[in-house]
Amino acid sequence: MNLLAIETSCDETSVAVLTAPNVLRANLVYTQIAKHRPYGGVVPEIASRCHVEELPGLLRQALAESGLAWGDLDAIAVTHGPGLASALLVGLAAAQALALRLDIPLLAVNHLEGHLCSLFLDPAAPAFADALPFLTLIVSGGHTQLVRVEAPGQYRLLGQTLDDAAGEALDKGAKLLGLGYPGGPLIERAAQGGDMRRIKFPRGQPTEHTGGLDPALCFSYSGLKTALLYHLKAQPAAAQPPELAHTAASYQEAVFDALIARSARALERQDVKYFGCCGGVSINKRLRAKLAELAAQCGVPLLLAPPKFCTDNAAMIAAAACRQLPLAAGAEKIPRLDAHPELAFGTV
Ligand code: KG4
Ligand code: ZN
Repeated sequence: MNLLAIETSCDETSVAVLTAPNVLRANLVYTQIAKHRPYGGVVPEIASRCHVEELPGLLRQALAESGLAWGDLDAIAVTHGPGLASALLVGLAAAQALALRLDIPLLAVNHLEGHLCSLFLDPAAPAFADALPFLTLIVSGGHTQLVRVEAPGQYRLLGQTLDDAAGEALDKGAKLLGLGYPGGPLIERAAQGGDMRRIKFPRGQPTEHTGGLDPALCFSYSGLKTALLYHLKAQPAAAQPPELAHTAASYQEAVFDALIARSARALERQDVKYFGCCGGVSINKRLRAKLAELAAQCGVPLLLAPPKFCTDNAAMIAAAACRQLPLAAGAEKIPRLDAHPELAFGTV
């Protein structure tokens, strides 16, 4: 079963070819970061224009790398949400056109299910079915969620952020510190050698308005960002070396402490075989060390995606699409897909 997957939900244009269940034949990622950097964040119009420019070449190159011909493909998969509407539409249009031209099934994938499935792209990871049930923390630029996975497609949302995502908190913090975009890797670098206990930043524990979710498993990062803003107003030197390293380390630690505390609580209450962490922020070495410590304390093996599969890529979309094969009885072969910028993931 040869599957071609397309990911264009944000600022990475990516195409992957996977021979199901797990032989990855190509995974090309064109990152647009340099194009968005002058604006301090992702500009949707630039992202979608860039996808239009890069996608045709990436499709041809991925197929060439895979050693397959167009006629060898058995299905096309594409991210249909959540993400930027105009960016998603570029991938959807290309995927739909390819499926129609090749007369093969078209599969719609939730971007967050893609991140979750990235955990199993590590050749050393157990098979998805053997890891069940597991708990996973999804930490990206747009989402922060604790999800319990009972079976493929059965995702229970245990907790999530009520405002900013962990990656967003790092991106906004980096902006306030004058570090640039994207913030996560820049804060990680700036925090090297810094004292993470120097500044007491809040750990944002929601108590209400969690939409039926247990507040003890939810996150809130808006207060942290405000605390940094006020700290910098009171002490402008905190954004300059040598204090900068301490500020960045303290801020980063506050973001991660909240992730670890909620995960610890979820692990206490959930009987799971594995604990996973995925999404762009999970590439961070300090976070990985803290996750490993927590997993060891709880006696639960840790699943992490290889770094190249942590940030947005189409290999994870292909891996998630595999779970939809063969097509469910009665499913439309080439459905008309729409972009779903706010597509939800998991049921409460
Ligand atoms: O999963 P992803 O590529 O895109 C979304 O689905 O949002 O995640 C992007 C996020 C950004 O907020 C970025 O700052 C963060 O991942 N990130 C990091 C690191 N590299 C990327 N956060 C912390 N440390 C890093 N090294
Ligand atoms: Zn993502």
